[in-house]
Amino acid sequence: MASKLIVLGAVNGQLQLTFNKLSTLHAKNKFSLAIVVGNLFADDDEAVSELLAGNITVPLPTYFTVGTSSLPPRIIEKIEKDEEVTQAFIICPNLHFLGKRSTTKTSEGVKIVALGGQLDETIVGGISQEQHLPFHTVADAKALYGANTTDILLTTSWPASIRNGSKVELPAGTTAPTGQEYISDLCVKLRPRYHLSLSPDFFYEREPFFHSATQEEPDIRPITRFISLAPYGNPTKQKAIYAFSLRLSPDRSAPFPAGTTSSPFSPPAGPRKRAALGPKPYSRYGQDNDYRNKRQKGRRGERRPPPGPGECFFCLSNPTLATHLISSIGDDAYLTIAKGPLTTADTNAALGIDFPAHALIIPLTHSPTIAIITEEDNARQKTFTEMTKFKDALQSMIAKRSEMNLGAVTYEISKANGVHTHWQFVPMPVETIQKGLVEAAFRVEAENLSYPEFQVRDPGIGQDDGDFFRVWVWTPPTEEGAEGTTKCLTMPFDDNLRFSLQFGRTVLAKLLDLEKRIQWRDCAQSEDEEKKDIEAFKTAFKEFDFTL
Ligand SMILES: *[C@@H]1O[C@H](CO)[C@@H](O)[C@H](O)[C@H]1NC(C)=O
Ligand SMILES: *[C@@H]1O[C@H](CO)[C@@H](O)[C@H](O)[C@H]1NC(C)=O
Ligand SMILES: *[C@@H]1O[C@H](CO)[C@@H](O)[C@H](O)[C@H]1NC(C)=O
Ligand SMILES: *[C@@H]1O[C@H](CO)[C@@H](O)[C@H](O)[C@H]1NC(C)=O
Ligand SMILES: [Zn+2]
Repeated sequence: MASKLIVLGAVNGQLQLTFNKLSTLHAKNKFSLAIVVGNLFADDDEAVSELLAGNITVPLPTYFTVGTSSLPPRIIEKIEKDEEVTQAFIICPNLHFLGKRSTTKTSEGVKIVALGGQLDETIVGGISQEQHLPFHTVADAKALYGANTTDILLTTSWPASIRNGSKVELPAGTTAPTGQEYISDLCVKLRPRYHLSLSPDFFYEREPFFHSATQEEPDIRPITRFISLAPYGNPTKQKAIYAFSLRLSPDRSAPFPAGTTSSPFSPPAGPRKRAALGPKPYSRYGQDNDYRNKRQKGRRGERRPPPGPGECFFCLSNPTLATHLISSIGDDAYLTIAKGPLTTADTNAALGIDFPAHALIIPLTHSPTIAIITEEDNARQKTFTEMTKFKDALQSMIAKRSEMNLGAVTYEISKANGVHTHWQFVPMPVETIQKGLVEAAFRVEAENLSYPEFQVRDPGIGQDDGDFFRVWVWTPPTEEGAEGTTKCLTMPFDDNLRFSLQFGRTVLAKLLDLEKRIQWRDCAQSEDEEKKDIEAFKTAFKEFDFTL
């Protein structure tokens, strides 16, 4: 079942006009309820008299909180009288005051958490008593944490950092309101489906963003849409009415809508209670041969453009992608097991790894290389750092479970005309590494294909390099808790080289005697097998998963 909701920007006392308009829209659309952001009233004026005299019809259940100005005295009086009698704030039929700091389940079944007013810097602590004054304290926001979750979060103030990671521009000449950290924290805690607020002279709808999962619901990464409305009847005709439909029992593991970003907010302070797992879509590979550089000598213009995020197999926002192979989602990267893995549950079973530990570490940002991820918000460095953290965590898991008998190989193809860069992680017996066979295998295959020679160096983020293939070969420590050692081999190459996207997998397949598994498409598993693999993987990875 879905409810149709309509949201109005600050009405500022234009009651007759607004409710007439609402009646017209309601007659056509049959909304379940309306919500007003910001001030409903202006002064204790004629409009208030008409409303209280019953001369203004409110056509459907309409909810509001305090905005930036105090409620008119006659409204406060009405509310206080009302509260004594019914414990509800009904101003006139269909018009409900939510209170300044409140949690409400409407009779239409929609949960609304409201924090009206603005921060009163002069009040140091405590929660405010007056529901009708346009001020609140940080404690008021914290008092709402107990609501746990909500469909709608309604705040007069903007959350801090909400525009981080957003590509939506504000209209020229407008400035975003100053956001508040404690409003961001409230949004992080409650994970509302819609966070509604107001702006003085423009409309802003952020790209949807997802929150981290919790331990209770490790498979759910809820989405919030932040929408800020201009005042009703504003001179520049900025949007002041927004309608949407809200499913009352949503499929919370549905794929992310296109354009979804990670959360603009820093994780809340204190121990991180984030969990692995995303309901998110993605699927790996996809890229293999399809987007290889199609240029052939003497022919031009045949290259297909690389896919955008909507059709990319590595983007979480790709709505068509499967979801069940993801293990963990961090702030800037995520971890998934491979579809059609090179190593199987049998490959290393004798060494204590009884699942295919072939994994992919993928940036959340759709970018062919790490080097060209934006520097804004330090995103590039943060992405590289978090991917490295995933790699280290995987290495530790493999070493511990195999009692130091398995190391690992991680490789990357970084190509400016690639699609969405990622790292592939494959466990490797420690003797194979120690005998130098891994390094030799890569060097020999490169030579055979007349590729450039490998160099012993790590380009890091790769800012000063062109295209390259790199491989980290990790030897586990001899005892648990000690550090292992990493050797990085890098092959720089240029545009003229038709670099095979299967190179890394081919080398490892030959080395591990898994030649039949060179093509991932030949290794497809049933969804049940995949689910079994991801469960085993997650169980093993749990103690190393820093996103939990
Ligand atoms: C309400 O409407 C009635 C009938 O039109 C009118 O007599 C009365 O003055 C109105 N009341 C207010 C407060 O406007
Ligand atoms: C919120 O969660 C806590 C802990 O799980 C629980 O004690 C509390 O009753 C919940 N509150 C609501 C309003 O659901
Ligand atoms: C948002 O961006 C600003 C400016 O780049 C930065 O100072 C701030 O730390 C960012 N906030 C978060 C939560 O990342
Ligand atoms: C080079 O690769 C081809 C194709 O995989 C193979 O047939 C050939 O034996 C290889 N040569 C060497 C020297 O490894
Ligand atoms: Zn992508």
